[in-house]
Amino acid sequence: MSTSGIVYRPRRLRATPRMRRLVAEHRLHAADLVLPLFVKEGLTEPAPISSMPGQVQHTEETLRDAVAAAARAGLGGIMLFGIPAVRDATGSQAEAPDGILQRGIRAAREAIAAVEQETGRPGPVVMADTCLDEFTDHGHCGVLTPDGVVDNDATLDRYAAMAVAQAKAGAEVVSPSGMMDGQVAVIRDALDDAGFESVSILAYSAKYASPFYGPFREAVDSALQGDRRTYQMDAANGREGLREADLDLAEGADMVMVKPAGSYLDVLRGVADRSDVPVAAYQVSGEYAMIEAAAANGWIDRRASVLESVLSIKRAGADVILTYWALEIAGWFSEGQEGRA
Ligand code: PBG
Repeated sequence: MSTSGIVYRPRRLRATPRMRRLVAEHRLHAADLVLPLFVKEGLTEPAPISSMPGQVQHTEETLRDAVAAAARAGLGGIMLFGIPAVRDATGSQAEAPDGILQRGIRAAREAIAAVEQETGRPGPVVMADTCLDEFTDHGHCGVLTPDGVVDNDATLDRYAAMAVAQAKAGAEVVSPSGMMDGQVAVIRDALDDAGFESVSILAYSAKYASPFYGPFREAVDSALQGDRRTYQMDAANGREGLREADLDLAEGADMVMVKPAGSYLDVLRGVADRSDVPVAAYQVSGEYAMIEAAAANGWIDRRASVLESVLSIKRAGADVILTYWALEIAGWFSEGQEGRA
């Protein structure tokens, strides 16, 4: 026994940068990261999103450049959102073969193929958001009954058609994010019937009704009045998030997601513990905006805060992380920044 009486000294493993690096349990890699991107029909110049400094609505042309940059940076994936020029009650542009999201998917696949040819390395997986809110004139994630309620079962048909249109355009992963009951099973059937049995489904399984989606509404010029609380989940409920993930797994989801990430790390941990498929988490627009705003005021260290927030999501159990900082973080890695906070 030493004279101090202290047997265990955890500080030994924190004493030097080389020791800390050796014993780091989790580290980020560019391939863990998925970059969400917005493409808007009819734009001639990329349009900055004021509540998401550094992020833009892309033209089809600048989308190609952004996707090529993501490919060169070695990102694991991109998640595409489309903003159509014309909206209607059923969101018909969502399933139009030449709708903006389908055009964006095709452009992304082309840009990635070109970079893969050049570098000989696999590019990012092309994922598409499968949801109607960007395409409906009322801004809800589904079609409405005459009383103005989101009609679950009528919406499922639209999601099925949308997923098939995305697969035809070249999406490798479709991502139902509307929180309709039964959406994964219906999409799986539709994809299989159309010959797309190898297209994967990333289910936004535990998606909470959250004010942290606020800046996203600007990003997609959302028309929504009211809220999404009849279909997205209540922040008070953790168990229900696990149940939603279980249902999506039973319906054939290839990956399950928790969203937002930062306020739901407990749900993420719970889903990761019971899921045998890869688990994703979405660090959403408001999480991005908060750190950007605090950093812009000089109140927090921007890079350290970004890395800690993303690493924490990995530590909580995410295999795949959607973050608007994906490209920038990958750039830091290539400059020698380690994948840790
Ligand atoms: C639905 C969708 C939303 C987000 C991703 N998919 C908006 C919503 O559900 O209200 C939000 C993403 C973010 O805030 O970064 N299409």
